[in-house]
Amino acid sequence: MHMLIAYSTVEGQSGKIAQFAADHMASHDHQTTVLNLDDSGTTPDLTSVQGVILVGSVHERRHSPALETFMQARRAWLAVRPVMFISVSLSAAFERGREEAQDYVIETQMRTGFAADEVVLAAGAVKPGSYDYFAQSVVRFVVLNDRAFEMGTSDHEFTDWAELTIRLERFSARAEMQGDAPYVAI
Ligand SMILES: Cc1cc2nc3c(=O)[nH]c(=O)nc-3n(C[C@H](O)[C@H](O)[C@H](O)COP(=O)(O)O)c2cc1C
Repeated sequence: MHMLIAYSTVEGQSGKIAQFAADHMASHDHQTTVLNLDDSGTTPDLTSVQGVILVGSVHERRHSPALETFMQARRAWLAVRPVMFISVSLSAAFERGREEAQDYVIETQMRTGFAADEVVLAAGAVKPGSYDYFAQSVVRFVVLNDRAFEMGTSDHEFTDWAELTIRLERFSARAEMQGDAPYVAI
């Protein structure tokens, strides 16, 4: 089946997760289209898309406007397809941050009027080398405040690739079961 993997990323981790998802789907014989929502170029023809994976990171408690605009503008189109939403944040990396990570998703659902069939709260990464002074301060003193991790000078990836693989397997099976449903092109 034809899978769209649409993503929005700032420091690259959601882009990496999106590519991982695309590679996984391709290895299971799905046709894949990867769409960078931050790129304002023309949108490819999505008429034959049968399943969607949305990937986007949280900055200052919000998913990006690019991702939310896509969800809102395409919500009728999305609603008739199986959709998995991978929300990437640092809160998701910590036991006591999971509720907050869930809140980011709920707030996005409320703003866009769209709720995915499946949500994955994926732990992202810290990338001190790509932060300016403001981003350094937010990550160190707000996001990681009171959390059991000391940000140094090197990158640290929290993403659990094995767990992500399990979730992608499950979504792929679910999407295939729904694959024969009639889809409306808009
Ligand atoms: C300036 C800044 C603000 C952030 N704000 C949050 C936040 O409010 N909550 C959170 O859980 N993670 C926050 N993060 C962590 C990012 O979600 C995490 O680093 C993620 O991996 C970024 O994904 P990306 O590389 O795809 O943009 C923030 C990171 C930066 C640099």
